[in-house]
Amino acid sequence: MSFPAGFRWGVATSAYQIEGAARTDGRGPSTWDTFATVPGAVANGDTGDVAADHYHRWAEDVRLLVDLGVDAYRFSLSWSRILPDGRGRVEQRGLDFYRRLVEALLGKGIEPFITLYHWDLPQALEDEGGWRARDTAHRFADYAALVHESLGDVVRNWTTLNEPYCSSIVGYGEGRHAPGAREGHGALAAAHHLLLGHGLAVRAMRANALAEQEFGIVLNQSPTVPVTDSPADVAAASRQDCLLRRQFTDPLFGAAYPDELTSMFGDITDFSFRHDGDLAVIGEPLDYVGLNYYYRLHVADAPHREPDPAKRTAHDIGVDTTRLPDVPRTGMGWPVEPAGLTTALTDLKARHPDLPPVYVTENGCVYPDVEGFEDAERISYLRDHIGAAAAATGVDLRGYFCWSLLDNFEWAHGYKHRFGLVHVDYETQQRTPRASFHWYRSFISQARR
Ligand code: FCB
Repeated sequence: MSFPAGFRWGVATSAYQIEGAARTDGRGPSTWDTFATVPGAVANGDTGDVAADHYHRWAEDVRLLVDLGVDAYRFSLSWSRILPDGRGRVEQRGLDFYRRLVEALLGKGIEPFITLYHWDLPQALEDEGGWRARDTAHRFADYAALVHESLGDVVRNWTTLNEPYCSSIVGYGEGRHAPGAREGHGALAAAHHLLLGHGLAVRAMRANALAEQEFGIVLNQSPTVPVTDSPADVAAASRQDCLLRRQFTDPLFGAAYPDELTSMFGDITDFSFRHDGDLAVIGEPLDYVGLNYYYRLHVADAPHREPDPAKRTAHDIGVDTTRLPDVPRTGMGWPVEPAGLTTALTDLKARHPDLPPVYVTENGCVYPDVEGFEDAERISYLRDHIGAAAAATGVDLRGYFCWSLLDNFEWAHGYKHRFGLVHVDYETQQRTPRASFHWYRSFISQARR
């Protein structure tokens, strides 16, 4: 495998998954704080109240990053730590926390990659409609401008959103994530307003940006494969792909929504949330795009779960995604298919030849722990996927971020599944690097030679 000079090796985390300190230093509640208390929403009743206590242990975590030898660290900011009500009153202690973290990273030569929104909307904004409401896009741009004004002298890389598919379709359509809604029109409006908020935020930050600053977005890009070549399964795979990938990539990089989206959802929404001029905002040119990859989706045609379109959610598109291929699985049951990362990258480039440079911003796995944290399976997963990324010929790939530095709150799965290169004992908060941590360190240092 060979990587261009300047290729960045990193790891990623997100605020709600690691910070804890949910009510410390004036932080307001987010939708995930609320959702986690809904009975049955999160496995075992787990919440992010304490998580990996990174808010208090950040200095130790920076030492782990230094020890790991990464060039870059991707993490997200908690909107409600900075603007407890989502707008208006600024909590300086929140901004100070992130400045301390950023300065500590820079002091060690580690480049911060900030994500402004990784799914944790201030609850006060959800109470006003959340991402269903167009106004939330403007509030997001205000928040982005505020943070950029505060940290713009030290942070070069600015990602607006992490995986808007999840914060719209999974959160407002499927209901598996916060805020736990199951809607049709509302979920599709949320997707549009997230994209609009992204474009408005990029414009707001760019208006005051230093020349070397870069702006991007992070998208999950599971390639979709029909389980047979029957026209019905092929059409089902296309619907799935439209919902998960093209709903986002086409307006971002192709200045239009896919027609298929209109034909899929014409009976559950009139798309009146799309206004003239929105596509120009959404299509604001980007300096990079981040791609998250975990698995391929294998899709068969299936009846809608809800026959009445008036009651149907945006997640109910007549597909069955449960027929997994005969390949090894991770501890989450996700199929291990490294070649899917190659095609995720090459597909995106093929569809959008003018694509900006790309980072793999998340990739990783969980396996049950064994004695001594000898996580051989994680090591081979990472090695094979890095190789698959390197095989994406024609893609201007600039870096790879492993998910995740630490074990953390894995959303609806709670603390059951552990993605960390570093094991966290949630009783004592003791950090113990797994074998994969040591492997990644030596892999990086060899790759740089
Ligand atoms: C991604 C999320 C990230 C993490 C991984 C496993 O979809 O962006 O926060 O939960 O999945």
